[in-house]
Amino acid sequence: MGAIINNILERDIDTKLSEDILDTAGNIILNSGTVIFPTETVYGLGANALDKRAANRIFKAKGRPQDNPLIVHVSSIDMLLNIVTEIDGRAKKLIDKFWPGPLTMIFYKKDVIPDEITGGLETVAVRMPSNKIALKLIEKAGVPIAAPSANISGRPSITSGNYAEREMSERVDMILISEDSEIGIESTVVDMTTEVPIVLRPGKISQNEIIRAISSTEDEYFSNINKLYDTFSNKERNEFIPKSPGMKYTHYSPEAKVFVLEKDEIVSIINKLNNDCNDFGDKLEEVIKSTSKEKIKVFTNDDNLDLYGDFAVSLGKNIDEVGRNLFKSLRYMDDIGVEIIIFEKIESINFTKNDFWNAILNRVIKASE
Ligand code: TXA
Ligand code: MG
Repeated sequence: MGAIINNILERDIDTKLSEDILDTAGNIILNSGTVIFPTETVYGLGANALDKRAANRIFKAKGRPQDNPLIVHVSSIDMLLNIVTEIDGRAKKLIDKFWPGPLTMIFYKKDVIPDEITGGLETVAVRMPSNKIALKLIEKAGVPIAAPSANISGRPSITSGNYAEREMSERVDMILISEDSEIGIESTVVDMTTEVPIVLRPGKISQNEIIRAISSTEDEYFSNINKLYDTFSNKERNEFIPKSPGMKYTHYSPEAKVFVLEKDEIVSIINKLNNDCNDFGDKLEEVIKSTSKEKIKVFTNDDNLDLYGDFAVSLGKNIDEVGRNLFKSLRYMDDIGVEIIIFEKIESINFTKNDFWNAILNRVIKASE
């Protein structure tokens, strides 16, 4: 049986129609069902975080490995207090500064959160989203909502409602179709159980902003930065990387093959393609040779659009637009039959000085693996 599908816009959140839709969605969550809902980062596939049967439905709907833990979404600090053992001073500062918003924090969990949610870990990842529909859905349900990104496991995350409908309508109970996700890249995941909070998954909020926010003085800031470097340079480093179990799985992969290359390399490839030269060298050789030219695209930005002629696809005029459009564009290339996507690893100062660029590159590199 297919999902109930409803359109609901953030700006119409207070209308009677929206109330009715969210009442239905909240009831589905309370009855161990699954609801896809919009957030400011990506769409989430939600279920009751206090109910292990509901959690299992998420894993089944996504085809997700059970040891990859889920993010739990809350709509209030009281809800957070019910599920974690302690909120220390640093976490309070991060909550004040970044919640509601694209920051997920890892805390020690209370027993109410079943092992199915956390993959057996003693910690739980929690986030308060800023999207009004997401917040109201959690309020209506009255329970925290566990929600990974709404894609089938391994595929690009879903940032627009129509892709949710196409990919997931036979796999969940309800889909709330809303505006496209504002940020377009999943939340920053930060571990609050270490001496200095350590970013496990980069996102819109950077490691540096986090250290800034927890430090009251300039001295404290530099001391925290030093502690961070110490943690990274000592041998324990390898121990905390697997702490985010999701990192070991394939991610974000469209049907097309993805390559991440620098401008000069791409210009040279395009010259060869335009001159019907077949010598591409190294790992690109086999793939490019067997692909017709129309099925090769270069992802770039407005500044460099002219460099790549017919091959160019611009993801936007600035870094925020590139982030917002990334997953949608990966999926759209599959829709139109593109087989090779070459992502331009931009070096220009304007892009690379922005920390969000690292989060975007992190996703594209994973898509290329
Ligand atoms: O923006 C987002 O975070 C979206 C929206 C829907 O909120 N959700 C999302 O969930 O991206 P998901 O399941 O695709 O990613 C969760 C990430 C995974 O890398 C997982 O391994 C990590 O968070 N994670 C979850 N719980 C953890 C824990 N207790 N310790 C370490 N990492 C954890
Ligand atoms: Mg995901």
